[in-house]
Amino acid sequence: MTLKTVTLKTAQTTLAEGVTELGIGHPSPWLLPLRELESAAAHRFAQGDASFLQYGTELGDGFLLTELAQFLSREYALPVPTGELMISGGISQALDLCCAALSQPGDTILVEDPTYFLSLNIFRDHGLKVVPVPVGDHGMNLDALEALVRQHRPRLVYTIPTHQNPTGTTMPQAQRTRLAELAQQHDFFVLADEVYHLLTFTGTPPHSFAAHVNTGKVLSLGSFSKILAPGSRLGWIHAAPELLSCLIANGMIASGGGFSPLGGALIRSMFELDLLPGYIQGLRDTFRGRAAALGDALDELRSLGIRFQRPSGGYFIWVTLPDGVDSVVLLDRAVANGVRYQPGPKFSPDGGQRGQLRLCFAYYAEDDLRGGVQQLGQALQETLREG
Ligand SMILES: Cc1ncc(COP(=O)(O)O)c(C=O)c1O
Repeated sequence: MTLKTVTLKTAQTTLAEGVTELGIGHPSPWLLPLRELESAAAHRFAQGDASFLQYGTELGDGFLLTELAQFLSREYALPVPTGELMISGGISQALDLCCAALSQPGDTILVEDPTYFLSLNIFRDHGLKVVPVPVGDHGMNLDALEALVRQHRPRLVYTIPTHQNPTGTTMPQAQRTRLAELAQQHDFFVLADEVYHLLTFTGTPPHSFAAHVNTGKVLSLGSFSKILAPGSRLGWIHAAPELLSCLIANGMIASGGGFSPLGGALIRSMFELDLLPGYIQGLRDTFRGRAAALGDALDELRSLGIRFQRPSGGYFIWVTLPDGVDSVVLLDRAVANGVRYQPGPKFSPDGGQRGQLRLCFAYYAEDDLRGGVQQLGQALQETLREG
């Protein structure tokens, strides 16, 4: 028997020493709400009611759902009824649940190209055929989508409509309405992943897909990961009540009850103490500054032939490299210069997007972001010099 050294760790990702990891899509550890959740826990435990330590009701704690409905109605500036919400284990788990309840192996799902790459594994876990739809400056290209819908008769369409991962693009209002109409005409469900909607730091985004839930064909998926803490593993599904009934008719929920009543109880107290809005505003202010710093630093590289759009929210800037430069090939040189990013093909269901790369501004402070871009610029210059 061989004894292996076990490295104990808590967080999923450990950053490599000496490399600026502009690829990582996580918040800075020092931005996480340790103090706020400490107050929330003290508040919850002081109530002397242990019911949140019991198996939870299937849709999630009704008191939490009521607070959440009020919060979303205010943030989205449209009514979100409590009866249309359920608590999920974050968007990742919500996607898994939706696939289990609404699709069969062999069905087709249309996804943006590029898209959130880790969603693709979830869709493939369910035996779905993944078909890419191009993304333009305004999100998913709906003319292309309509043609693909006629060709493939999908069961599901997955979109990240606001501050998309990885492109940062936002789908305009009229396109959102058109997508919801197409879902009704062609009988598919829209899984709207709205994980970055509340992280808008400039202007006001178009209405959340919550506005189209009443069609019965749209599910708006939200998460506490980016507005509170990824470790909460909690989010929500906003959908027509008959769809929610279908989602909770699930073996895992029947056995284990609703998702994480303990974590949900802390978030309930975050709401009751009115701690969440101020915390989110702090994140928006920080990310606005970081996005500007990253954008300013990248402006210096425009003379080398890169292109990008400044985001108005979310976590990312999507960079198009000069003609002929491949983001997969460039990565080795970037790492040698001390910086890493996510190369474009990672986000593409069929391995395209080779001339693109994704940078994240949520993890590092402004100076580190500037330093990382300088290193990226050096790698690019070396590559261009070699022709
Ligand atoms: C577009 C998108 N959807 C979903 C997730 C994961 O969400 P959750 O943490 O709620 O599972 C991420 C995380 O980066 C994301 O970027």
